[in-house]
Amino acid sequence: MLQFSFSDKTGRLTESALRAEAAKYAPLLEAVKAQSGLDPMSTGWMEIGRWAGEDTLSNLEALARKIQGDSDAFAVIGVGGSNNAARSMVEALKKEGFPEIVWTGNTLSAHAMEKTLAALRTKDFSIDCIAKNFETLEPGAAFRVLRRLMREKYGETFASRVIATGTIGSSLEALCRKEGYTFLPFPTDIGGRYTALSNVGLLPAAVAGLDIRKVVKGARKMREALYTLPPEENPALLYAAARHLLYSMGYRVEMLCSFEPQLQWFFKWWVQLFAESEGKKDTGLFPAASLYSEELHAVGQFVQEGSPILFETLLDVQDPDGSVPLTPDGAEDGFSYLDGKDYRDLNRAAFAATRTAHSGRLPVVTFTIPRIGEEAFGELFTFFQYACVLSSGMLGVDPFDQPGVEAYKGWMFKALGKT
Ligand code: PA5
Repeated sequence: MLQFSFSDKTGRLTESALRAEAAKYAPLLEAVKAQSGLDPMSTGWMEIGRWAGEDTLSNLEALARKIQGDSDAFAVIGVGGSNNAARSMVEALKKEGFPEIVWTGNTLSAHAMEKTLAALRTKDFSIDCIAKNFETLEPGAAFRVLRRLMREKYGETFASRVIATGTIGSSLEALCRKEGYTFLPFPTDIGGRYTALSNVGLLPAAVAGLDIRKVVKGARKMREALYTLPPEENPALLYAAARHLLYSMGYRVEMLCSFEPQLQWFFKWWVQLFAESEGKKDTGLFPAASLYSEELHAVGQFVQEGSPILFETLLDVQDPDGSVPLTPDGAEDGFSYLDGKDYRDLNRAAFAATRTAHSGRLPVVTFTIPRIGEEAFGELFTFFQYACVLSSGMLGVDPFDQPGVEAYKGWMFKALGKT
């Protein structure tokens, strides 16, 4: 289970200040747990069994087996919340022997689409178009182009390779019924970025060979912990309180960092969750992410000596996969101090050194997780979703809408002649 701690040698974030802030917001934790004051059309993810219960899991596993049997690739069409959770799990945990997951419908670049088409042309593939409203341009355009490729490749039988995940009653469902595509419900009471534990996040993971039951197990475990731990030990409340305190002290950027590149797509999910949920009404911390140790040779300089606008959140993996001994080869390379050590030792040393160096300059929050696996992803999604709702509540913003996103869309639709 994830553990929360922090280190701040500057003395700004203190144990007593954090406890006081958490105590102040203990009623908010109770309100969130009771779903009080939250839009019921956005809280479907809080009851895990509703969109990730036994029927859903069995259906997804059967569908995944069919796709694994007839496809070398599975094109997932979706943008933002419609692909980030699945991508973070699949890119971290994908295995040999399962269809390659191709992420598309997340850009308007012709170059990127040409590359996707070229890659799919030579493979047997299926697609899943994931779109809550089926108005967003990126998935809509990609779906059209890929349907055309499929028709050229498979003739009129191509419909058996098409899945679409949309809301019941939507134009996407109507299209599926008319054209004979498989239709999966997109939760009506969950917004994109909170849909990890539903058809949206779980089908691509199941196709890639991941154990989606473990994802759900991790989510349930985390939910149980967040609902039973007292406020002073509740990691979601403590983390949200720390973010809020630091925001009120003038910090404007939170940088999530890890020493495991496996987590790089999870970072994208986390950035979207907090940016789209909190960044409104001229408030919110800007969520950034960095992969260490590589970025220690770049943004590490800014962290240590640049504008004091950011604090750091480290995601530490206690027992990561992999072991590579640095056995000496007899050459005098100047690295004899590595003899007898493993890459794992180097990464641990880099982690400890970074925390010591950075916490001398800025507050450093640390989350420790035992290992990276399906269960951990279920825990992480659930943990950060609750923390984000709490943190948004402290800022006084609605964590579930994204009115600012509509502004550019309006101008774009106008430019393209959409009526
Ligand atoms: O979190 C959200 O609600 C958004 O990021 C959406 O997921 C994203 O805009 C895609 O929307 P749609 O699934 O309607 O195409």
